[in-house]
Amino acid sequence: MTTRKKLVAGNWKMNGGLAANAELVRGFLPAVTADVEVSVFAPFPYLAQLQGLLEGTAVAFGSQDVSAKASGAYTGEVSVSMLKEFGVRQVIVGHSERRSYHAESSETVALKAVAALEAGLVPLVCVGETLAEREAGQVESVIASQLDPVIAQCARFVQNGQWPLVIAYEPVWAIGTGVTASPEQAQEVHAMIRARLQAMLGESLAQSTRILYGGSVKPGNAQELFSKQDIDGGLIGGAALSSDDFSGIIRAAKG
Ligand code: PGA
Repeated sequence: MTTRKKLVAGNWKMNGGLAANAELVRGFLPAVTADVEVSVFAPFPYLAQLQGLLEGTAVAFGSQDVSAKASGAYTGEVSVSMLKEFGVRQVIVGHSERRSYHAESSETVALKAVAALEAGLVPLVCVGETLAEREAGQVESVIASQLDPVIAQCARFVQNGQWPLVIAYEPVWAIGTGVTASPEQAQEVHAMIRARLQAMLGESLAQSTRILYGGSVKPGNAQELFSKQDIDGGLIGGAALSSDDFSGIIRAAKG
């Protein structure tokens, strides 16, 4: 039985500033211990600042998106090699806000995950259904349609039943709404994702892949969510902007 180390990832979205970032990081660092992995995802201009702030700590950091292209005439895009120059080790790809506001398809998301893996970065690939899709009984088909291109494109990075890729299940109706999926609802989808990984890439890969839950995670609900068998930590939005809340969620991941 593989033991998966819990990961608590803070997605700052388009928030922050030089002074606020420094205060936030200083505030949550004391909660970070070796038993839980912690990372934060900042807007591109602040990655250089995070490189300094987090130097010598166990906290990883990264960006909230990345280009699938290596270089060239792609105005506004940022490549994996640029991110690596600033010490980035992880990238979020396929966040629902990028899928909806920037029309990112699951195929594009898969190519971004490939670019990250090729560069030795850890992609956190987000999947999740809308409320209308859930109410129409389409959770499994929607998740499959988001996940399958990623599995197909990234399967070649599996070595000895492992890949660095992390999946984040983020039901769109729970993001930033204060409505959290119940631990049972989340567990059900996490188990389904793991079963799909197993069917397509084998048991060892399925058991070693971390699947995070995201969507209105707070210190008060984190422990119950993280205690579920297939929930390996969280991708935290709003609560990652408060050092007290983020610290509380890190502590909740310690069990
Ligand atoms: P939330 O955001 O915690 O504010 O719901 C989660 C996310 O979008 O990653």
